[in-house]
Amino acid sequence: DPVGPHSPAAPPAPVVLVTGAASGIGEATVRLYAERGHRVVALDVDRRGLEPLAALEGVAVLVGDVASEQSNAEAVALAVERFGRLDAAVLNAGIGGAGPLEAPGAVERFERLFAVNVRGVVLGLRAALPALRASGGGSVVATSSVSGLRGDPGTWGYNATKAAVINLVRAAAIDYAAEGIRVNAIAPGGTATAMTAAQVADPTFSRFITSRIPAQRWADAREQAEVVYFLTSPAASYVTGVTVPVDGGLSA
Ligand code: NAI
Repeated sequence: DPVGPHSPAAPPAPVVLVTGAASGIGEATVRLYAERGHRVVALDVDRRGLEPLAALEGVAVLVGDVASEQSNAEAVALAVERFGRLDAAVLNAGIGGAGPLEAPGAVERFERLFAVNVRGVVLGLRAALPALRASGGGSVVATSSVSGLRGDPGTWGYNATKAAVINLVRAAAIDYAAEGIRVNAIAPGGTATAMTAAQVADPTFSRFITSRIPAQRWADAREQAEVVYFLTSPAASYVTGVTVPVDGGLSA
């Protein structure tokens, strides 16, 4: 078979970095890429959560913090050392929670939210861009949120970080488009993960949330991963600078 996978002409399987890989949307994304024959570097602060992923074919795991320049550099270096290149970076790690604006410690919590949710994306971009360029182009997908498109009660700091990601992606996309590097985001609506587990498990609260979603249900993490996959794929080769809502119609 001259065009089979072992032909010298076959392009190498794409190499993808996923942050926040140990749980939820990130974990579903790692599994989807691995199933489809991609090679993946999975970065997370949660060492135990990464263990099941380390057993997957073509997946290398790394314990690190996206708010650290060194962790981002190590993750990209691992992709290049282990798999020879980097084609995409899925900058997904994020944390929630802030508490009332006037509560003690609110400023410190806000600074940590920004360090993970915004600085983490900036550092991920800075680490990934030279490697994407060296691969002849590529793409980045950050995880924003419907909370970046609107206000919600009690999550002012989180909403600020997710709005920041949307415009960071727009501006960075302009800067790198001519080099064939695309920069996009997804804006998930309510998705059943560790982050939302308490809300999903509370029948009254869960019904309140889903009653406001046109699709009338929470998303599965896999439904987010599918859109991330599309955005990094050649099918999305002319898509850059956008944030795609994946929210069952919540932001419609
Ligand atoms: P999750 O809590 O299940 O997974 C987040 C992962 O990120 C965890 O494995 C955690 O250890 C990791 N992480 C946290 N801080 C980190 C750091 N500093 N460095 C490296 N890894 C770190 O949550 P989920 O829901 O999968 O969240 C993924 C992204 O999706 C987040 O950015 C979140 O804000 C966003 N999102 C989630 C929604 C939802 O309803 N679940 C809705 C909209 C956005």
